Amino acid sequence: MNEPTRFGTVTPEVVERLSAILGAGGVSVDGEKIAVYSRDEVAERFWDRPYRAEVLVFPESTRHVSEILRMANERRIPVTPRGAGTGLSGGAVPAFGGILVSFERMNRILELDTENLCMTVEPGVITAEITRAARKAGLLYAGDPCSGDASFIGGNVAENAGGNKVIKYGPTGSSVLALEVVLADGSVTWFGGKRRKDVTGYDFVHLMVGSEGTLGIITKIVLKLLPLPAFGVDLLIPFPTVEAAIRFVPRIALEGRVTPASIELVDHHSLSQAEKFLNTRLPFDQAAAHLIVQLEGNDREVVADETERVGKLALEKGALEVFVADNRSSRDKLWKARKSVAEAIMAYYQNYAKEDLVVPTDRVPDLLFAVDALCRKWRMEAANYGHVGDGNIHVNLLMADDRPHWHEDMEQARQELYETVRQLGGTLSGEHGIGLKRKAYLPQFLDAPQLELMRRVKLAFDPNGILNPGKLVFWDKKTGEAGA
Ligand code: MLT
Ligand code: ZN
Repeated sequence: MNEPTRFGTVTPEVVERLSAILGAGGVSVDGEKIAVYSRDEVAERFWDRPYRAEVLVFPESTRHVSEILRMANERRIPVTPRGAGTGLSGGAVPAFGGILVSFERMNRILELDTENLCMTVEPGVITAEITRAARKAGLLYAGDPCSGDASFIGGNVAENAGGNKVIKYGPTGSSVLALEVVLADGSVTWFGGKRRKDVTGYDFVHLMVGSEGTLGIITKIVLKLLPLPAFGVDLLIPFPTVEAAIRFVPRIALEGRVTPASIELVDHHSLSQAEKFLNTRLPFDQAAAHLIVQLEGNDREVVADETERVGKLALEKGALEVFVADNRSSRDKLWKARKSVAEAIMAYYQNYAKEDLVVPTDRVPDLLFAVDALCRKWRMEAANYGHVGDGNIHVNLLMADDRPHWHEDMEQARQELYETVRQLGGTLSGEHGIGLKRKAYLPQFLDAPQLELMRRVKLAFDPNGILNPGKLVFWDKKTGEAGA
């Protein structure tokens, strides 16, 4: 049961209204189905209680979304938008019940505009489909979250998903030119356009990006595309220590004079989980850490030259070997291993804290020393991997399955870790978002004036607090939530 709040509830009359808007097939009150849709990749046992929507809806158009919101706003019913459920922060968990909006039926690519190099899509399109459609036209959509084979683009935008190509192309938001948004009262507006520049007013496009569904509901997205690089290679570079791997990262730009598309780190523990999960082996898998460096370009010779330069430099800086994956199958094998680490850890461990920390890139070694010290102190293990080129490390703290009071211990260990991250000039989440999972820690990273500003922005967009309540914003100063 959801706790009583000032919110309106979903009565039979509300379900009837929703059915009138969407047709009977667009509305579900089936408890089992609602339970499945009321979660994301965060295991339910990490929450204080299960959170359940009261009704699940499947809009097929902007008009549907607009009518749902108009009705919900009048009755103060919470509305939680949901993509594919691949999120890692509980962003799509309906914390206050109400209406859960699945975008799986708004899944059309509406336009591929090769003249303006952009694509207009609905929020329920799977990210990888966008990549494929662009590629067919010789174009690149640069968003590349690890869950891209399943995630919806709407969720990527709502969380400003990062992924593997941020170092060169930026996170999802860097590829967003425009958004059609339904505001809390049901009105529909466009932020941005098919323009590469725009200082005509506030940048609402990039306020919406990463706002986790708390300010409006995105119903169309215009994505920027680029020419597809003709050649690409991935270098798999094992190192004898994690520190040597990390210290090599800035040398790639400084001494190698190369901007790779990706620089990813996978430590030994992370790699061995992925190998077990996929029943595969990668070369030199006893090494303490591997880097994956992706290089790309339009001139084969240039890419070959950069490959050689980076490879040579890596060996000079202590790499054990340099493996060059330059064909589809070897590149796919390598990335499959990298992208499966998160799932592998969740498959083999019960008691984990899956973090998404970011520090200035030169502080990554300090972060990982602190993680080592924390592991010794709290008698736990860690698996560290992620987007080292961005200073964004997925530190996974792991405690034994049979450890009593693991939850309390983990909580304290996390607090200590966050304090270190703060001192290193880092922050709480680089790409997974705050959601339900990290909200309590926001005041450690954002000061009071900033939190108050966020609250006021929320108020301006959503005066009744119906949009994805419980996420990101401390709505009511007294109760800390959507109180009286
Ligand atoms: C990744 O980089 O693999 C994803 O962000 C998921 C994660 O590891 O937590
Ligand atoms: Zn990641």
